[in-house]
Amino acid sequence: MQRLLFVCLGNICRSPAADGIAQSLVASRGLDWRIDSAGTGAWHVGKQPDNRMMTAALARGIELSPLRARQAEPDDFLRFDHIYAMDESNLADLEQIRPQNATARLSLFLEHSDVPDPYYGGDDGFEHVLDLISDRMEILFDRLQQG
Ligand code: 4NP
Repeated sequence: MQRLLFVCLGNICRSPAADGIAQSLVASRGLDWRIDSAGTGAWHVGKQPDNRMMTAALARGIELSPLRARQAEPDDFLRFDHIYAMDESNLADLEQIRPQNATARLSLFLEHSDVPDPYYGGDDGFEHVLDLISDRMEILFDRLQQG
C-alpha cells in the first residue's frame, strides 16, 4: 500500500495529469494504492483541470474530468507516504508548510529537473508534460513496487 500525492502550482495542469496517469497505472497493475493531487496555490480550488490538459490526456485514454483542484495543506504530510513536487518552486513552497511531525517523504518528481509549467504555452507543451510524466511514472511505480 502506497499513498502518493502529486503537487504543482495550480492543480489544473501538471499534477492532475500525474494523478490521472498514476490512477491508470494503479488500475492496470491491480494495486491498492491511494493517489491524489493538489496545488500550492488556491486560485483554482474546486475547478476541473484545464481543458487543454483534459483533451490531451483523454487522447491517451486518461480521463481527468472527475478531478477537482484543491490546495496542499500541512496535514497532507501525515496522510501520504510520498509527496512529489512538479518543480523546484513547488518544492520550496511545500517545505514552507511541512509540519515538524511530517511522515511523508517530499521530493522532486523528476529528481533532477522540473516538469515545465505548460499553462501559458501552446498545445505541444501539454504533450511534452504528458510524455515526461508518463515515462517517469512507470519508473517510479517499478521502484515503489520493488519496495
Ligand atoms: P499547473 O499550471 O501548476 O501545472 O496546474 C498552472 C495553472 C495555473 C496557473 C499557473 C500554473 N496560474 O497562474 O493560474
